[in-house]
Amino acid sequence: MTDFALSLLDNLELPIAILTDKGEIDYRNLAFAKTFGDDAELWVAKAAKTNVSGERGWLQLLFSARDRSESIEAEFQSRTYRISRVHFDNDDSATKVGLTFDDVTRQREMEQAKSDFTSMIVHDLRGPLSGIQGTLEFVLSSQETRLDPMHEELLLEASRESERMMGLINELLDFSKIESGNFEVERDPVHLAGILRRSVKSLQSVASRDEVHLLTAHGSDLPMIHGSAEKLTQAVINLVSNSVKFTPQKGVIAVGAKLLRGDADNDSIVVTITDTGVGMSPEDLSRIFEKYKQSKSKSVRGGAGTGLGLYIVKQVIEAHGGSVTVSSLQGVGTSMVLKLPLRRVA
Ligand SMILES: Nc1ncnc2c1ncn2[C@@H]1O[C@H](COP(=O)(O)OP(=O)(O)OP(=O)(O)O)[C@@H](O)[C@H]1O
Ligand SMILES: [Mg+2]
Repeated sequence: MTDFALSLLDNLELPIAILTDKGEIDYRNLAFAKTFGDDAELWVAKAAKTNVSGERGWLQLLFSARDRSESIEAEFQSRTYRISRVHFDNDDSATKVGLTFDDVTRQREMEQAKSDFTSMIVHDLRGPLSGIQGTLEFVLSSQETRLDPMHEELLLEASRESERMMGLINELLDFSKIESGNFEVERDPVHLAGILRRSVKSLQSVASRDEVHLLTAHGSDLPMIHGSAEKLTQAVINLVSNSVKFTPQKGVIAVGAKLLRGDADNDSIVVTITDTGVGMSPEDLSRIFEKYKQSKSKSVRGGAGTGLGLYIVKQVIEAHGGSVTVSSLQGVGTSMVLKLPLRRVA
């Protein structure tokens, strides 16, 4: 390297080093020497080599041209570094990589604190709310209480609102799990037809109130799939309630499902939720699966959402190995298509 290049590298605050797969440090800039000190010789020797029993050191991932990940994250002297490969050189004698070491400790701590805070809040809100729900349910279903129609209607309204709030809290809980990388779905045998029926049923009264026709139809041969009944129900409810929100009076929402035969073991179930609502512009369409994204088209019923619904739906379906696609025309309607792979349940 020229003196100019060397001095340039030494003036950077970012630690940079060139390491060989034999575990040697070929070059280090000043920031690298300052950050890792003399210890560096030792851990590089270990991390960059493959040992006698064939075990790869953790840095080896960055030495293989085939490995696609060109950056890794590692804990080191109780700090977290994002180590990125900025140069790769493979000649006969050795493989050399140029690496930068970004200290991302603070960033990771902030993210962790944020997600811990959200889960804490969410847990602490769920407890009292289910207490309220239980109480309302008890009063409404008890034989002893004789309510006059007005009070009964008020309590029913309180019960519906607390259900809505529980939905929001659950959405936030899923969101914080997704953000912290802890989102997983169960893999129980579930009946999709039942899930569709239950989801549609739970929205039937809202749809009738808004004078929207809500229909469901599915093939009689739908097999079971592996998944989480709770999360899939939540995803379908989310999509159907979007349709209800964005479909004017006398509109139609159709929920359907059918078995799609693929080659070999590639069968899947396709679920479609189609509405005759306000639709979306191509520009909005490309962004609605992102978090907090809402299109400019206003809900025909008011009631602002969080813009997390579709983001979570996508994560839920992808966690089941499936995919979500959407097509929409402004003023005509929207169609959401879920494709869920079928690993047959014996
Ligand atoms: N069926 C639909 N017809 C028209 N626009 C839709 C439809 N479904 C979704 N959208 C648009 O996509 C946006 C994002 O939907 P998403 O479900 O993520 O959020 P939201 O419904 O606004 O809030 P929430 O988090 O309560 O679900 C909506 O705000 C709306 O603009
Ligand atoms: Mg929504």
